[in-house]
Amino acid sequence: MPEPAQRHAATHGFYHLEHSRISECACAGLACFAARADRPDRWQIAATQTPALYCLGKCYDAPSDGAHDGRPHVGQHASRSVLLGNVLRGGVRDLTAYRSGRSGGGGDALAMARQMAPQALVNLVQASRLRGRGGAAFPTGIKWQAVANAEARIKYVVVNADEGDAGAFSDRFLLEDDPFRLIEGAAIAAHAVGAQRGYLYIRKEYPQAAQVVSQALEQARSAGWLLPTFQLELVVGQGAYICGEETSLLNALEGRRPEVRPRPPQISARGLFGAPTLVHNVETLCAIPWIVTHGAAAYAALGFSQSRGTKLLSLNSLFRRPGLYEVDFGIRLADVVDQLGQGLRRGRLRGLMVGGPLAGIVPPALLDTRLGYEEMQAIDCAVGHGGMIAFSDDTSIANIVVQVLRFGSRESCGKCTPCHLGTPILAAMAQAAANGMPIDGSRFRRLIEALAETSLCGHGRGLAEFVQSVRRHYPSELQSWFD
Ligand SMILES: Cc1cc2nc3c(=O)[nH]c(=O)nc-3n(C[C@H](O)[C@H](O)[C@H](O)COP(=O)(O)O)c2cc1C
Ligand code: SF4
Repeated sequence: MPEPAQRHAATHGFYHLEHSRISECACAGLACFAARADRPDRWQIAATQTPALYCLGKCYDAPSDGAHDGRPHVGQHASRSVLLGNVLRGGVRDLTAYRSGRSGGGGDALAMARQMAPQALVNLVQASRLRGRGGAAFPTGIKWQAVANAEARIKYVVVNADEGDAGAFSDRFLLEDDPFRLIEGAAIAAHAVGAQRGYLYIRKEYPQAAQVVSQALEQARSAGWLLPTFQLELVVGQGAYICGEETSLLNALEGRRPEVRPRPPQISARGLFGAPTLVHNVETLCAIPWIVTHGAAAYAALGFSQSRGTKLLSLNSLFRRPGLYEVDFGIRLADVVDQLGQGLRRGRLRGLMVGGPLAGIVPPALLDTRLGYEEMQAIDCAVGHGGMIAFSDDTSIANIVVQVLRFGSRESCGKCTPCHLGTPILAAMAQAAANGMPIDGSRFRRLIEALAETSLCGHGRGLAEFVQSVRRHYPSELQSWFD
């Protein structure tokens, strides 16, 4: 039976946007919060609407809403263009045009890959030193090997297009402007690990992306580009940040409540419907066709230190030149701010939130840091999705922390106590402290420690580490919170 082109994730009253029309929503994400002074009316709607919507992927023109859209500036600043070729051309949404392109994919990579033994492909990706772009930076080749080694009749590849980290819109433009590259990357991965079926999960906040990908899948199917060896189906989310976490995403695809699964088992052994599963971020998979056509050594030659290849960065509207950029790893954050972004439109830089709300805020004094997974970790921050939200001095650090904790408590999946019960209390305490009211600092500290040490997943841990990192970098701002 042919698969339907599109279906929706099952709902159990857990999702926020089941009944919302995205075109009628305003965005309450952190990039819109950073720019709230630019369109106070729109921000007011976003801040008071129910349900709240966090991030429409339009951070380059914030505060944003579902009714307005425009294209961001797109800048190619890497020594070789791996990812943005077709985005720079304004998008390639037709299979014939894609196949006649010269952008390091075009279907040639899939044809080459299908001539290769699966293990040779796994070796190639290992040698490229590609690491997952979804946040955890796990080596892609090791994941492929684990799923390839698993013995099972059915295996799955899942594309994680949930891009929930406020401030990032890179996956959005890969989906909207280069859908065939993603499909090609997923099909190559499927061949390498021996998967016959796949799902592409796109968040509801990206309706245009879902439409483009749905049409691209139709074209790919009718051209016989994927079948008979690999079936890929589109599923559209219903608004829950935690569906970006891979085990939660698998539960959503199975029609269960999308809460995080304890591990073990690892999903490479028992994932979707109990079968070995490979989950990848959009940007990760989009790099695969280039690696296959240009070779592992060419890819590994890009970047620096343990972070090889190129990275997409999303710069928010507080920069003079906001937009989507491809860079080599190793670029200094100061160069991102001054050269790519061309500085701030107004005010002075208070901090740069890199990699989303769970990843920390880089203070101006640390802008000499070079972009790399270990280098960012060394300053208690992270590369994450590559979102870059500049905050100017019209926003206090305390208010950023309040926003992050509020977001975090709203998006808790409820599976573990420190996050489910702890985050609403922390958000309320932070709000009180930011308003100048006294709070029980030792309770705040204990709740943060419990969140850091006992959360089941990276959501709770990330929230705690975010607060701890901010406290370290801005010691005077949160002093009274921990007394
Ligand atoms: C709270 C949370 C949210 C996440 N959200 C996303 C997301 O929106 N997109 C994504 O690709 N990965 C997200 N991840 C990471 C995924 O769990 C997973 O590591 C990733 O999809 C694997 O793909 P990669 O190897 O290509 O990075 C999230 C993780 C956590 C803990
Ligand atoms: S930390 Fe939060 S999001 Fe993660 S499993 Fe626990 S309740 Fe769910």
